[in-house]
Amino acid sequence: MRGKFITFEGGEGTGKSTQISLLANHLKDLGHDVIVTREPGGTAGAEAVRHILLSGTAEQFGSDMEAILFAAARADHVDQIIAPALDDGKYVLCDRFFDSTRAYQGASGNVPFETLHALEQAACGEHWPDLTLILDLSSKESIARANKRRGDAEADRFERESIKQQELRRRAFLDIAKQAPERCAVIDAAGSIEEISAAIWREVDLRLIKPQNLPNKPSQLKEKLKRINKNVRN
Ligand code: TYD
Repeated sequence: MRGKFITFEGGEGTGKSTQISLLANHLKDLGHDVIVTREPGGTAGAEAVRHILLSGTAEQFGSDMEAILFAAARADHVDQIIAPALDDGKYVLCDRFFDSTRAYQGASGNVPFETLHALEQAACGEHWPDLTLILDLSSKESIARANKRRGDAEADRFERESIKQQELRRRAFLDIAKQAPERCAVIDAAGSIEEISAAIWREVDLRLIKPQNLPNKPSQLKEKLKRINKNVRN
């Protein structure tokens, strides 16, 4: 049986990596095979592209170039790591995926949706996430947490951007969730680590572990998930 693909999205400092490792442990305790990976990165080729992107080397060539580079790294990652793990029936937990390209290069970088859509098709093929957890936090809090986490280290290419850019991305993630409630769940990332992990587990359990409790009809499913997903802002 094909495994399950879960992506984690949100701004910097929203606690994605902590929550990914808690979810991975919980799934392992239940006897599931789990791999944890991240973007940009996950393979030697993609890590090389990560360096070009986060150092800011590609910034001068514009957001289109950056979107294409993120997609090139993603294609390698899907091909080498994600698709084989899903074929082996594993849970794949990925820190960021194509929604980050939509939010960062699309909403705050102005790359047109048609371009992003074509890149998604090329990089992912049929390997679409089964569930995307969007960790939502106010931009101010998100920046404060990212600064604290970074300490004295230099900010990367995207961390250097303004609060206005961060706000555009936050809105973009919330819009993505609103438009695809059957794939996405918004998690309030302002609570304690335990509250956030409990909220994440509720979504994973309902949507992936016991989906028999959800309606079969696509229209009813969409309605039910919209109601459950109360955190999605208008
Ligand atoms: P990383 O150090 O992994 O950040 P974080 O802990 O915030 O996830 O850096 C990844 C950066 O790359 C992050 O600022 C988001 C950005 N990014 C994009 O701009 N587009 C993308 O498609 C992806 C995957 C990441």
